[in-house]
Amino acid sequence: MRVAVTGSSGLIGTALRASLSANGHQVLRLVRRREQSADEISWDPAAGRLDGSRLDGVEAVVNLAGAGLGEHRWTDGYKRAIRDSRVNATWTLATAIAGLSDPPRVLVSQSRIDAYGGGHGAEIIDEDEPLGEGFLADVCRDWEEAAAPATAADIAVCFTRMGAVMSQRGGTLARMLPLFRLGLGGPLAGGRQYWSFVSLADAVRALRFLIELHGCTGPYNVTAPEPVTNAEFTRVLARALRRPTVLPVPELVLRTVLGEMTDQLVVSLRVVPARLSAAGFVHRHPDATAVVASALR
Ligand SMILES: NC(=O)c1ccc[n+]([C@@H]2O[C@H](COP(=O)([O-])OP(=O)(O)OC[C@H]3O[C@@H](n4cnc5c(N)ncnc54)[C@H](OP(=O)(O)O)[C@@H]3O)[C@@H](O)[C@H]2O)c1
Repeated sequence: MRVAVTGSSGLIGTALRASLSANGHQVLRLVRRREQSADEISWDPAAGRLDGSRLDGVEAVVNLAGAGLGEHRWTDGYKRAIRDSRVNATWTLATAIAGLSDPPRVLVSQSRIDAYGGGHGAEIIDEDEPLGEGFLADVCRDWEEAAAPATAADIAVCFTRMGAVMSQRGGTLARMLPLFRLGLGGPLAGGRQYWSFVSLADAVRALRFLIELHGCTGPYNVTAPEPVTNAEFTRVLARALRRPTVLPVPELVLRTVLGEMTDQLVVSLRVVPARLSAAGFVHRHPDATAVVASALR
């Protein structure tokens, strides 16, 4: 299968490319710089520029592009970049493929579990849960809506509402590890909030599952089936690293250091992958212990 991927240089995109290629698929990368090889297509999502004809013959598209959430303090300007980079990329891509005479069969467009907003406590959240409120929920709503041109062109569009991808190579865990390795990690803001996460391997397997699943549409939560509280995740991580002493980190300290980005760490989201499981997807790493072990390997 010919598969086009945006955001392909990122944590998930790099692993997805490797997995697709290893399984005999041909990967076309949409790159925001000059093309350097025949498998690259230059695009400028901020300016809405993409020569759609270059995507002729592509069967599936995976859209992962977006400015990193953990890379800068969330100033008003950076919050705009977080939103606009996702919305512009998705709209540019969806418009381009919608205009093709032979469009791709499926667009898998990334979203986040933050779409469900806060205030859920220990309630179990599946895809029937309505979208919530708050900055990231609003970003996710606009991000998903930006794929509308593809839906209107009868392309099967599904949204992967993904939990925190656990890997040593990037994301939340990579930022936590240095402190935990020093024995200085601990539960965040009381630790009672539920964390929903997924191993990098299962995140990639889920994306591949969905591009191969004929007829997938709408939201799919991409999380391990057994989310746990932040305190429990902390215990599992400390045990795996053989660092039993853990210091709690009060929310005030987090807010002082990280600013508004703290919202993402203290929100309680107990999200389950109901639609993925119903479609037959089996997680290789279903719980915190397996996810942490796979991330540390
Ligand atoms: N990692 C997680 O835990 C996690 C969890 C849930 C959802 N997600 C979402 O999944 C997507 C991919 O995640 P990731 O962890 O692989 O992210 P990542 O490592 O930050 O990679 C994102 C990629 O997006 C492209 N990009 C960066 N800035 C951009 C901008 N201003 N405009 C357009 N494209 C830009 C870059 O690829 P190019 O340079 O190749 O264009 C970058 O490598 C993101 O949208 C993220 O929010 C991630």
